Amino acid sequence: MATAEQLNCYDFPKGFAWGAATAAYQIEGGWDADGKGLNVWDTFTHQGGDRVFKNQTGDVACGSYTLWEEDLKCIKQLGLTYYRFSISWSRLLPDGTTGFINQKGIDYYNKVINSLLENNIIPVVTLYHFDLPQAVEDQGGWNCEKTIEIFNHYAQFCYETFGDRVKFWITINEPHVVAKLGYEEGLFAPGKKEPGLGAYRAAHNMLKAHAKAWHTYKNDFKNKQKGFVSIAIDSDWAEPYDPNSEKDKEATERYLSFYVGWFAKPIFVDGDYPEIMKTVVSKRSKAQGLQTSRLPEFTNEEKNMIKGTADFFCLNYYTSRKIRHCTSSADESSCTSDIAAERIKDPDWPECGVEWLAVVPWGLRKLLAYIKDTFGNPTIYITENGFAQNESPVIKDVQRWTYFQETLTEILKAIRLDDVDVKGYFCWCLLDNFEWISGFSVRFGLFHVDFDNAELPRTPYHSAIEYSKIVKRNALTGPGETVASLNN
Ligand code: BGC
Repeated sequence: MATAEQLNCYDFPKGFAWGAATAAYQIEGGWDADGKGLNVWDTFTHQGGDRVFKNQTGDVACGSYTLWEEDLKCIKQLGLTYYRFSISWSRLLPDGTTGFINQKGIDYYNKVINSLLENNIIPVVTLYHFDLPQAVEDQGGWNCEKTIEIFNHYAQFCYETFGDRVKFWITINEPHVVAKLGYEEGLFAPGKKEPGLGAYRAAHNMLKAHAKAWHTYKNDFKNKQKGFVSIAIDSDWAEPYDPNSEKDKEATERYLSFYVGWFAKPIFVDGDYPEIMKTVVSKRSKAQGLQTSRLPEFTNEEKNMIKGTADFFCLNYYTSRKIRHCTSSADESSCTSDIAAERIKDPDWPECGVEWLAVVPWGLRKLLAYIKDTFGNPTIYITENGFAQNESPVIKDVQRWTYFQETLTEILKAIRLDDVDVKGYFCWCLLDNFEWISGFSVRFGLFHVDFDNAELPRTPYHSAIEYSKIVKRNALTGPGETVASLNN
């Protein structure tokens, strides 16, 4: 394999996808505009109770529902070749089903898709990014098997309606987050707390829903539309706290298996959960006097249905952790106690505007290599990565841009030195937006949004201007510029 110096370039591969990402609830606003139905985040935020920073909501957010042209200007200013956004399911289908279709919702997404294409920007569409229609949640949401079929009909409807133009589909964004925060810890909408059961059940149904929607595309649309379908999987990178401790090494393996492995192993390897996950949960369930494991099992038919249902790997990477083995008492029932691993932020790692995000660019390179080795060397798109500022953002975010540069350097190393097939990078996020329970206190945008001004003006951060240069030349450095060596 050639080293970077031999290749003598900081170029990204030809045709590398340069993007930015957003999600409907975080940017659109227009929560009840033009017949949109409620989703779980509308309900969750409207209930108040200090679960979200200052009880803020996404009712208005960046106003993208009415200000799409402003977003398009930002995308064009960056020179992006791809733009990832999500469809608000309940804007299209107010009760989640095709029983009633909201034409205004179709019009909005047609406008977005058509104007992207007119500007040679390829749309990447996420069908579901945390905002399940409330009506679907009322029937059990991801706790309930029925949701698999409802999701499949929704996916089918989107392929039919937009698939003549949309060729990149992501079924579900971060099922791990939805399962754990939404159905186990109750920190995210729909706020369900069912430790030790809820997350496993929700994840089980989401995996089946994803697989079904992938097959629907393959069987009924692929020949004609010639597009691709995947799922966005998030994961930390993890390393043993004490590299010489067997216990810490095992805990690290457990941690990664319960994180990226939970979804990637069934989809990319063999239709089933990682062995470690099955063993640990079943053992602990037995010790708790249960007849069956808290981790549901797939039938052989389901395994065959799930295996191989992603046309590429969509990875969302933000941070890394050092992992120390810990013990959990037998009667504790939760995903976290099943993993029995303490997540440690190395104090040497810089932090950004959000407490959980220790900045570890090299963790991405390691995670990419792990994915290559563990999940059959898939083509990978990094569909989210970013660094936040806090409530008092600076437009000249020089330090943040350094993090981006370091991250892009690590991606080049992964491509050039580790032979990982990375085909694209989507920065999170195009705009400052509603950052879930942190509300507007955390700013991930390439563009600043002034939320105190009713017109919600967008202003490029220094990072946006620098990112646009990289996008334009498809290379990390311009003439005479240097960055860290790519050799190790
Ligand atoms: C989510 C985004 C979120 C970002 C930063 C990801 O988990 O997909 O919606 O804003 O992380 O927290």
